[in-house]
Amino acid sequence: MVTVAAAKTADLTIVGGGGHVGIPLVLAFAEAGFRVNVHDVNREVLATLRSGRLPFIEHGGEDLLARALKEDRLIFTSTPAEISPEGPVIITIGTPIDEFLNPVRKVVQDCVDALLPHLVDGQLLVLRSTVFPGTTEWLDGYLKRKGRDFKLAFCPERMVQGHGVRELKETPQIISGTTPAAEDAAAKLFSSIAVELVMVKPREAELAKLFNNAYRYIEFATANQFYQIAKSAGLDYRRVYDAMRRNYPRARGIPSPGFAAGPCLMKDTMQLAAFAQNQFSLGNAAMLVNEGLVLHICDDLRRRYDLSRMTVGLLGMAFKADIDDTRASLSYKIKKALLSLADAVLTTDPFVTTDPELLPLDEVIGRSDLLILCAPHAVYRELDFAGKPMVDVWGFLQNANVIS
Ligand SMILES: NC(=O)c1ccc[n+]([C@@H]2O[C@H](COP(=O)([O-])OP(=O)(O)OC[C@H]3O[C@@H](n4cnc5c(N)ncnc54)[C@H](O)[C@@H]3O)[C@@H](O)[C@H]2O)c1
Repeated sequence: MVTVAAAKTADLTIVGGGGHVGIPLVLAFAEAGFRVNVHDVNREVLATLRSGRLPFIEHGGEDLLARALKEDRLIFTSTPAEISPEGPVIITIGTPIDEFLNPVRKVVQDCVDALLPHLVDGQLLVLRSTVFPGTTEWLDGYLKRKGRDFKLAFCPERMVQGHGVRELKETPQIISGTTPAAEDAAAKLFSSIAVELVMVKPREAELAKLFNNAYRYIEFATANQFYQIAKSAGLDYRRVYDAMRRNYPRARGIPSPGFAAGPCLMKDTMQLAAFAQNQFSLGNAAMLVNEGLVLHICDDLRRRYDLSRMTVGLLGMAFKADIDDTRASLSYKIKKALLSLADAVLTTDPFVTTDPELLPLDEVIGRSDLLILCAPHAVYRELDFAGKPMVDVWGFLQNANVIS
């Protein structure tokens, strides 16, 4: 680890700076000329970054990382005592939901508690993680009760995972602060990397972020339910989808059906449901549809085939296309369901490096009786999969023997 003296020279600290949100933000500020303290409890990730590699796919990130290291713009720390005592501090740690699908405020509290002895009153403290509405106000009161006086802001991240480097350059930044001074300081900080700032109050910013994600999740659920309705009626949804959208501007935004998964969309929809006292019927319905899609596929296959005699191959174990992240991937939910139905389940993914059960694509195609496209990675698009029956709910593959 670097010395305390070295960390003191940072212009800005990003807590959780080795995470999926943290890294693109670190790179954006470094590119804008900041010397960034990349602070993360995960030392392995810091070592990977220090060696010039990204710990996961972040398109366009490697060149920026190389440049930031070359220009000595990054400082790596893993304990709060090492962090820079000056400059803004941006918190980008994970904010999970618990087994009751409720937010876990304690992770924010624990993180702030650990940082507090090493922060100086007057510093700008920015919450960037997605939080339950009211968290910023709560933190403001919590800090005041401890006799501390920071400029506290909430500026949510809205990038799409894997494309943060590009999206930080294109996406307006939502800025809020608990005081005008906090708001101004946050606006000044983000104006150095952002195309546009949208100024709102903390509670508005918290809701805007959750509404963005819940809306996307509901859109996916709409598409998935349309798919299921068409299929139950014995129709090929691809034809209906094309008819709905072709040169019809109002339908252009309807997504394709598919596995709506990953660490954010369901979690944030459930945070919103918890905030709405579980009176968020659209959000809860979206969860049932999106999570239910994989079970619907299994049920359909079970009716059509004697799965107990078949080997099923799953293509793409990441939670979405062209990334290597398996967090909350529905590919694993369908794998689990099929393990009790099929003779064998084989899995493959060109990007995922964390799953020892993955096999090469050729082997999965060769040994499987039936294939399911779980993540529509671009490399699969034009393959012919040896004519094996293929489930492609996405309507993505061009040369496969698609059965549904
Ligand atoms: N992943 C996305 O695409 C995305 C997009 C927008 C918003 N968000 C939100 O951003 C937040 C972070 O998500 P993520 O996907 O980057 O999570 P992540 O797990 O990839 O990254 C979080 C990082 O924080 C580190 N960390 C945790 N506790 C820490 C602590 N006390 N001190 C220092 N480091 C700590 C972890 O080691 C990890 O590297 C969440 O609130 C998420 O909902 C995520």
